[in-house]
Amino acid sequence: MSEPHLIILNDAQELYVRAAEEIAHVAGEAICTHGEFTICLSGGSTPAATYDLLATRFHLSVDWKEVQFYWGDERCVPPDHPESNFAMVNRTMLSKLALRPDQVHRMRGEDTPALAAVAYEHELRKRFGLGDGDFPRFDLVLLGLGDNRHTASLFPGDPALHETLRLAVSVEVDAEPRKRLTITPPVINNAQRVMFLAAGQGKAAAVKDVIEGPRDPDKFPAQIVEPHDGEIIWILDKAAASLLSHR
Ligand code: 6PG
Repeated sequence: MSEPHLIILNDAQELYVRAAEEIAHVAGEAICTHGEFTICLSGGSTPAATYDLLATRFHLSVDWKEVQFYWGDERCVPPDHPESNFAMVNRTMLSKLALRPDQVHRMRGEDTPALAAVAYEHELRKRFGLGDGDFPRFDLVLLGLGDNRHTASLFPGDPALHETLRLAVSVEVDAEPRKRLTITPPVINNAQRVMFLAAGQGKAAAVKDVIEGPRDPDKFPAQIVEPHDGEIIWILDKAAASLLSHR
C-alpha cells in the first residue's frame, strides 16, 4: 500500500473547492483512459458543498454523461428523507445535472435492509461484470470520517469490518439512523483511489488516531482502508490536521 497523500487547506471552504478540483481531475483522467468515471459517493455533511460546487462552478469540468454514481453507504430511510444520503447528493448535485437514470445506482434505504444489501451487491456485480470472488474497482471512493473513527457505515467493533466476500451488507450502528447499508472493506480496498474528506477541530483527534495511531481497525475503523493497488488521499483543513505530527 502506498503512503497516504495529505492535502491540507487553510479552512473548510478551501477544502470543499480543492476536493471538487481533485474529483474533476480524476474524472477527466478516468474518462480519458477508459471512457467512464465510476465514483462511490460519501454521505454525511462534509461532502455536500463539494457536490454542489461540482454541479455549479465545476459543471463544465466534467463530461457528466460518462459518470456512473454509486454510494458507499446509506441510512435505511426513504430516498426523500432528510437523513437519506441519496437525498443529500440529489439535492446538492444530481438534480442539477442532466443525467440518464442508468447513471445513478443508489442503495435502496427504504427496502428491508438485508434484501437491499443483496440487491446492491447484485447491481455492482452486474454493472462491473464481476465473477464469483471478484470485487468492483471504483475509479474513486469518497469517504468521510466520523468522530468515533468510523467511515462509510463501518463502525467500531462491527463484524462488517472483517467481511471478505460480500460487497455490501446491512448493519445496525450506535448512531441515528441505526439501520444502515454499507459497502465492505474489500470493495473500498479494490479502488483505484480513495479520498477522505475531513474538516474542523472536531475531527482532529480522529484524524490523528487513524493516520498515526496504533493499528486497531476494530477501534479505528477508517484504518481498514488500505487499497492494495491504489492510493489514499486525505483532504483536510488545518483544524482537522492540527494534531498530526507529520504534516
Ligand atoms: C454517513 C456517512 C459517514 C460520514 C461520517 C462523517 O452516512 O453518515 O457516510 O461515514 O462520512 O459520519 O460525517 P460528517 O461529514 O457529517 O462529519
